[in-house]
Amino acid sequence: MYLDNAATSYPKPERVYEAVLHAMREVGASPGRGGYRRSLEAGRILFQAREAVATFFSVSDSARIIFTHNATSALNLALQGTLVAGNHVITTSMEHNSLLRPLYALRNSGIELSIIPAGSDGMISVDDIRAAVRVNTRMIAVSHVSNVCGAIQPIRQLAGLCREAGVLFLVDAAQSAGYLPIDAPGIGIDLLAVPGHKGLLGPFGTGLLYVAPHVPLTPVIQGGTGSHSTAEEQPQVMPDSFEAGTHNLPGIAGLLAGIDFIRDQGLSTIFQREHVLLTQAELLLRAIPGVTIYGPEDPSARCSVLSFTVSGVDSSLLAAELDHGFAVSVRAGLHCAPLAHRTLGTLPGGTVRLSPGWSTSCEEIAFFSDAVVQCVDKIRKSA
Ligand SMILES: Cc1ncc(COP(=O)(O)O)c(C=O)c1O
Repeated sequence: MYLDNAATSYPKPERVYEAVLHAMREVGASPGRGGYRRSLEAGRILFQAREAVATFFSVSDSARIIFTHNATSALNLALQGTLVAGNHVITTSMEHNSLLRPLYALRNSGIELSIIPAGSDGMISVDDIRAAVRVNTRMIAVSHVSNVCGAIQPIRQLAGLCREAGVLFLVDAAQSAGYLPIDAPGIGIDLLAVPGHKGLLGPFGTGLLYVAPHVPLTPVIQGGTGSHSTAEEQPQVMPDSFEAGTHNLPGIAGLLAGIDFIRDQGLSTIFQREHVLLTQAELLLRAIPGVTIYGPEDPSARCSVLSFTVSGVDSSLLAAELDHGFAVSVRAGLHCAPLAHRTLGTLPGGTVRLSPGWSTSCEEIAFFSDAVVQCVDKIRKSA
């Protein structure tokens, strides 16, 4: 039983596998690299996918969507493509290493960085962020939903603060896209980094960055785009400018099918189902002696993941027992977000994190919680 959809979603809807195979077997060619029919068909799939992504995030001009390899490459582009030495960036203690590490690297080249601690429930305070704004602040960068405890951050209020302060707003939607509705322009998000392979149900190696029209972005990779071939410089055309090299067409075709699936099911239906599963898991886990659940008390302030520890039981050992004894896949440890664990008080052992997906059933959650009881029992007896 796979309960690690926060890492990458599995299984994918059947139509995703079909679309990947179709792009590889029937289409075969690269988009924008030839005038023959196969290449034109590849270009059509690429365009449709860009349109589907744009519609999904309420973006009117799909040229503002840049395809990337994952959320990490989208975050790197957003940061390296906008920041220059002397800029100040505000982020929080709840961030993933995919946001923190590029920022640490930029700090070595003259970017000033403030990391604002969240509360012990993982929630960011807008007032604390406001208090950190300086004259040279260029950007506020936060994750929409914590990948450690599921805390849903107040991105509307943060967007308002960014407008007031005249700074860019970068949102890491790795754990919210495909679960929560995101009207990027309506909220006031300037840069939205999204993985294609998690909640959007696309294949590995897919991701995207939305860039609002007023945001100046510099390419971080130069190369062939299939356009303006005589120019020595990278073409300054969206999105070609940022998509040098051959596209992951099978992945993008699968992503298009994943978004189609979500549209057919309805985002709110998917969110509601997931909420029911997480609520059930929480109730069952809380009944186990020694269990602590992390994140905001109110379950409606959390989504996507549920993190817990059992007192006296090593989280990694528990996850290993769940895997070996019951074929349950959950992630344990620090979830690539060390500062978030410090904030939540779960260093050094981290937590066990479960994240159900669109195909997870209530029966599976009940099986999972029984398995936890048995594994905890076994670990305690052998201690
Ligand atoms: C909050 C957050 N940001 C960024 C990432 C990186 O995503 P990707 O693996 O698509 O690069 C993850 C992955 O788990 C994440 O949870």
